[in-house]
Amino acid sequence: MDTQNRPIGFFDSGLGGISVLRACTALLPREDFLYFGDSVNAPYGEKSLETVRDLTIQAIDGLIAQGVKAVVVACNTATSAAITLLRDKHPQMPIIGIEPAVKPAAQAHNSSSVLVMATPLTIQEDKYQKLAAAFCDQANVISLPCKGLAELVEQGHMEDEVMDDYLQTLFLPFRHCSVEYIVLGCTHYPFVRSAIRKNFGRPVEIIDGSDGTARQLKRQLENAGLLSQRETPGQVTFLNSRPEMVAKCWELYNLEY
Ligand code: DGL
Repeated sequence: MDTQNRPIGFFDSGLGGISVLRACTALLPREDFLYFGDSVNAPYGEKSLETVRDLTIQAIDGLIAQGVKAVVVACNTATSAAITLLRDKHPQMPIIGIEPAVKPAAQAHNSSSVLVMATPLTIQEDKYQKLAAAFCDQANVISLPCKGLAELVEQGHMEDEVMDDYLQTLFLPFRHCSVEYIVLGCTHYPFVRSAIRKNFGRPVEIIDGSDGTARQLKRQLENAGLLSQRETPGQVTFLNSRPEMVAKCWELYNLEY
C-alpha cells in the first residue's frame, strides 16, 4: 500500500481518545484510523510516571509495527509522560500529542479564571506545570486533579447519579469562585461535558483540545506529504486490550454529546 494511504495510529489509555478521534475523522474524512485503547491498564493518570512511559511506548511500538503512517497520542497523561521519548525513538514518524487547552482559555478576552481539570499525573508533570506557569500572568490558572473521573467514564457513568455525586463533591471548593473557563485536560472528560456543566451550576465556557489536535494532525500530514490520496471515505478500526470494549468504542464514537 502507498505510504499516504496507510492508516493513522491512535492511542489512549482507554476510551477517552475517541473524543479526539471524532474531531480527526470530521476534519480528515478520507483517512483510515487504527485506534488502540489500553482499557486493561486504565486509568493511567493514577499510575507512576515510569509505568505510564512503559505502557505508552509499548502501545505506540505496537501501532507502528502495524504500518501506520503517523501516530496521535490522544491522551494528555501519556503525552506528558512519554512524547519526548517517543519522538526520540521514532524520529521519522509524525507523532502528535495533546495537552490541556490552557492557552486559548487564558487568552480569551473575557477570561480571568481558568479551571483546568486533568488527571493527577498530568497535573504533577513538568510539561503541564510549565504550561500553566506560562499563562499565569494572563489568567488565574487553577489546576484541579480529578482522581477517579476517567475511571467513572471508562465504567460507563456518563449522566447518572454516581457522576453527579462525584462532580458535586469535586466542585464544592469552587462554589464562590468566579470561573469563566473550564479546560477539559483529559480526553475522557468531553464525554461528560453536560454533567460537568450541570454540576458546576453556573454559566461557564468549556473547552477541550480535540479540534486543535485535529488541525495539528492535518498540518503535519500536509507538511510530510502524507495526506491520503483516496477519493473514498476512510475507515475506523478499534482495537482494545480488553476486546469486549470494542462495542463500547463504537457506541461512544457514535454518541451525541
Ligand atoms: N484520557 C487520558 C488523558 O487524556 C487519561 C485517562 C486515564 O487513563 O487516567 O489524560
